[in-house]
Amino acid sequence: MASSGSFWMPEQGSTIAADVDTLFDFIYYLNVIFFVLITAATIYFVVKYKRKSDDQLASSNVGHNTALEAAWTFVPLVLVIICFVWGFRVFLDQSVAPANAIEVQVKAERWKWDFQYSNGSQTLNELFAPAGRPVKLVMSAKDVLHSFFVPEFRIKSDVVPNRYTSVWFEAKEPGDYQIYCTEYCGTGHSNMLATVKVLPADEFDKAMLKGEWPGQSGEGRDPVEWGKELYVSKTCNACHSVNGSRLVGPSFKGLFGRDAKFADGSTAKADENYIRESIMDPNAKIVEGYAPAMPSFAGQLSDGQTDALIAYIKSLK
Ligand code: CUA
Repeated sequence: MASSGSFWMPEQGSTIAADVDTLFDFIYYLNVIFFVLITAATIYFVVKYKRKSDDQLASSNVGHNTALEAAWTFVPLVLVIICFVWGFRVFLDQSVAPANAIEVQVKAERWKWDFQYSNGSQTLNELFAPAGRPVKLVMSAKDVLHSFFVPEFRIKSDVVPNRYTSVWFEAKEPGDYQIYCTEYCGTGHSNMLATVKVLPADEFDKAMLKGEWPGQSGEGRDPVEWGKELYVSKTCNACHSVNGSRLVGPSFKGLFGRDAKFADGSTAKADENYIRESIMDPNAKIVEGYAPAMPSFAGQLSDGQTDALIAYIKSLK
C-alpha cells in the first residue's frame, strides 16, 4: 500500500491522482489567499473610514481610479483563465483513456455492480484490475441513474441507462480500493458498494487466462461464514434483513424450510432449489406482498458462492 493520504485527501492510488490534487490545492489556496486579503481589507476600511459625523458624507470626495479598476479586473481574469486551461487539461487526461488500456464493461443495477471482462468472465461488486496498466471502464445502467466513484483514484462518472459513459485509471500498486455509488438511486443506495481489487500484473494475466478470479471458489472455507461475508459484499443486505425486519424483499431469517406464499396464489416449500431459483431468476416466484424488484444474479455468482449463500440462509433460523 502506498501512503495513506493527507488530512484532506485519500491516498493517491492512481497515476492521475497527483495532477488532480495539485490543481485542487492551487484553486484551494488561491481562494484562501483572496479570502484573507479581502476580509482583512474590509475590516481595515470599515474601521478607517467609519463615518464620524453627519456632515462628513457631504464633504467626501470619492473619485475614480483607473489603475486600480484595471488591476482588479485584469488579475482575476488571468487567474480564472489559468484555472480553466489547467482544469481542462486535467479533465481531458482523465477522460481520454490511453490506446493500450484494457476494457471492462460495467453494469450498474439497483443495488449492485457487475463487471465483465474481455475473457467472458464476470464478477459482482469486485473489479479486478492489474497494477501499473491502464484500465478503461465502459459503463451503463440497467435501471436508473447511478454514479461510479473511487476516491483513491480520483475518478467519478455518472452511470446512465441507455447510453455509455467511460472513465479510466491506472492503479499504482496492488491493493483494495473502495467503490461508491454517488447518485441517490433508492433505498439500497448506501449499500451499493464495491471494491477495486488491484492485482500484480502477472497475477492478473494468469487469472485472465484461466478465467478464474482470486477468492471466487471459497476453497477450504466454512460455507456459512463465507455466505455471511457474501451477504454483505454481494449487497444482498440492500434488500434482505437477517433479523426478520421487512426491507425491499423478505427477510432471510427463518426463510429456509417455511411455506412460501406467492403473488399468484401458489405455495412452495423454501428449499435449496427455491432459493437458487430466486437468486438466478427472481421473477419466477414473487412472494406475496412484495414487488418484483430483484435483479437476476445469473452468471454473476459462482456455484460456490451460491452454495455459501444458501448455507448462510439455512443457518438463519
Ligand atoms: Cu446506485 Cu446509488
